Amino acid sequence: MLTSNVLFGQTKITLYSDQAETKINKEIYGHFAEHLGRCIYGGIFVGEDSEIPNTRGFRDDVTGALIDMKIPLLRWPGGCFADTYNWKDGIGPREERPSMVNVHWGGVTEDNSFGTHEFLDFCDLIDAEPYINVNVGSGTVREASEWIEYVTSSNISPMTDLRKKNGREEPWDVKYWGIGNENWGCGGNMTPEYYADVYKHFATYSRGAEYKIACGASDIDYNWTDVLMKKMQDKRNLMQGLSLHYYTITHNWSKKGSATDFDEKEWFTTLSKTLFMDELIQKHSTIMDKYDPNKRVGLIVDEWGNWFDVEPGTNPGFLYQQNTLRDALVAGINLNIFNNHADRVKMSNIAQTINVLQSVILTKEDEMVLTPTYYVFKMYSVHQDATLIPANLKTSKYEMDGESVPAVNASASTKDGVISITLCNLNPNESENVELSLPADEISTASGQIITSQSINDFNDFGKNETVSLKEFSVAKPKDGKLTFELPAKSVVLVQLK
Ligand code: AHR
Repeated sequence: MLTSNVLFGQTKITLYSDQAETKINKEIYGHFAEHLGRCIYGGIFVGEDSEIPNTRGFRDDVTGALIDMKIPLLRWPGGCFADTYNWKDGIGPREERPSMVNVHWGGVTEDNSFGTHEFLDFCDLIDAEPYINVNVGSGTVREASEWIEYVTSSNISPMTDLRKKNGREEPWDVKYWGIGNENWGCGGNMTPEYYADVYKHFATYSRGAEYKIACGASDIDYNWTDVLMKKMQDKRNLMQGLSLHYYTITHNWSKKGSATDFDEKEWFTTLSKTLFMDELIQKHSTIMDKYDPNKRVGLIVDEWGNWFDVEPGTNPGFLYQQNTLRDALVAGINLNIFNNHADRVKMSNIAQTINVLQSVILTKEDEMVLTPTYYVFKMYSVHQDATLIPANLKTSKYEMDGESVPAVNASASTKDGVISITLCNLNPNESENVELSLPADEISTASGQIITSQSINDFNDFGKNETVSLKEFSVAKPKDGKLTFELPAKSVVLVQLK
């Protein structure tokens, strides 16, 4: 989407439906669940004996909420945890599974009661595609290849016999496999040159893994992308995706700031750093285009979102943070950016689904809270597998202390005869007057939804009525090929036309 400035408070959007051709993969709306803090245990899985209502150990409230939100894909088991994980510890009778220490996340005991069968069973339950990340950092090529065989093969082999012995006759349909995670850091501190060779070695023996995703860069490490793309040129069939990790860090890694207690300056900084995702994707894509002009390799943003200081009094290794209206804006902006780059971005995974970083769901014992980020994913689900509509966006500036960002960020798509436009107004003080030039005269109805709140710090909390949620947003009928409406300050809005 092209962006330029216009008069204060005025936003003009022109949609080019006649140029709509790029599919927005539903996988762009993917999620990430790691063995970290209370994401898996307590968040997703409580065990059959729990008093919390559950189905085969999976929380019923969480399962229902994820289905309602239309979760399309779930990445597991990490993250940094993936490169310490031995998948064979997580299969077979639960009482016989060995325990391990979760060295990255709090040094807590991992009893392996949630393993491969549980993960794939949960994906079936919530109707999400599974994405499994194998261990490259501390695992072997044989372990990875046996895991893929155990899961996907219908042949007769020791691994498929083992699967059957563990109660699963038929293979699972798992398309997406990550070969390592952050191998430039927690996954082995490798150079890109070394990792590219290691990747080829693992990928060669990853038969059965249809869509293999190589570990990609951390934010501005453009050299990593260049080396990987260059070194994989002669082995194109071994790499279908290359990842990218970028977290919005408001201040810096040692002092990330509070998730809830922040002022307008921090709001501005957070949103400005979120918009940087657009430049990152453009620059990594340009490098990828050099080696892959036909965009055969997908850019997989498999970790993104806000990373704040943990909530006071909680385990620093558990990365538990609350989620405010600011998080809703961050989610809305990122998802609009991914939509607008759908020609290259084929999947993304917000970190992480439950109780960790920018979560869509928080739980405390038997209570569950749906966060503002949850409602953005629910609202934006209309874009899943829709066709991107290219657009021209002219918007005013939101200024703060001599710096500025575009006030409005947006994306548009079409599916089943309905045009959906999602818009974020970053300015917490002023509404924007939006004029939308419509593609066809025959459009006659418009409807909308909105996420906003009184204060930028508002969030949903346990035991209280919801403060931030999805509400109806009324828009007048389009007139003379134009739709005009006020986009309220600090809001995420969906407008649908047909
Ligand atoms: O999402 C938390 C951690 O962030 C992941 O384990 C790791 O991949 C990244 O550094």
